[in-house]
Amino acid sequence: MNNAQAPAVLSVHALGKSYGDVPVLRGVSLEVRAGTATAIMGPSGSGKSTLLHCMSGIVKPDSGAILLSGRHIENLGENDRSRLRRESYGFVFQSGQLLPELPAIENVALPLVLNGLSIAEAKRTAHGFFAPLGLDGLQDRRPGQMSGGQSQRVAIARALVTKPAVLFADEPTGALDAQTSWEVMRVLRDSAQQIGSALVVVTHDAEVARWCDRTMMMQAGSLVGTQVAA
Ligand SMILES: Nc1ncnc2c1ncn2[C@@H]1O[C@H](COP(=O)(O)OP(=O)(O)O)[C@@H](O)[C@H]1O
Ligand SMILES: [Mg+2]
Repeated sequence: MNNAQAPAVLSVHALGKSYGDVPVLRGVSLEVRAGTATAIMGPSGSGKSTLLHCMSGIVKPDSGAILLSGRHIENLGENDRSRLRRESYGFVFQSGQLLPELPAIENVALPLVLNGLSIAEAKRTAHGFFAPLGLDGLQDRRPGQMSGGQSQRVAIARALVTKPAVLFADEPTGALDAQTSWEVMRVLRDSAQQIGSALVVVTHDAEVARWCDRTMMMQAGSLVGTQVAA
């Protein structure tokens, strides 16, 4: 499952970002390949979320280059970055990203509707994600009527429904107990791989990182080492 020969879907070169005069990213470079899973670990405040936000077009870096499938994206304006996030990326956060008033099926269908599909078509495609993610029968539940693990699996379905080139997850198990974290990571890794999305997971949990093909360690704004899974 290593896809070591696949071309890089996302390449980051010498990325720099400061807030005020505090450098948060100090020349970060990495490459991410389709169908692989990368964990980014490191102490709180080391810049993990900022790196993820720069790679995913949420935040504009000060310097360096970001290439998505060979195309420079580091200098895109707000509208183009917004389209990029909608069309090429998926996001899973710690919790609270589902719309509470919508049933699960509509939460999952929403990104497709935003990308121009009819509601009926979007729901049909969304429906296909429920059984593989262990969510069969939960289509009509609202987020408040599901467990934390179920909500995270709905969030994963929503992030993957557009078949993104890259799926970014920032502490996706941060609000879950150990057993549920394990189940959510298994679903996250396996479903991203199935779709061919590259997975990038920021986590402070070594058990979560163990699900990934490699773990990159971040310290004070720099990547200081990589461990490849056996
Ligand atoms: N929008 C922001 N404005 C100012 N400082 C920020 C902002 N976002 C992050 N920082 C600072 O950048 C550093 C790295 O933050 P972050 O990337 O969130 O680290 P991590 O995810 O590794 O905990 C921290 O010192 C944080 O306070
Ligand atoms: Mg963070």
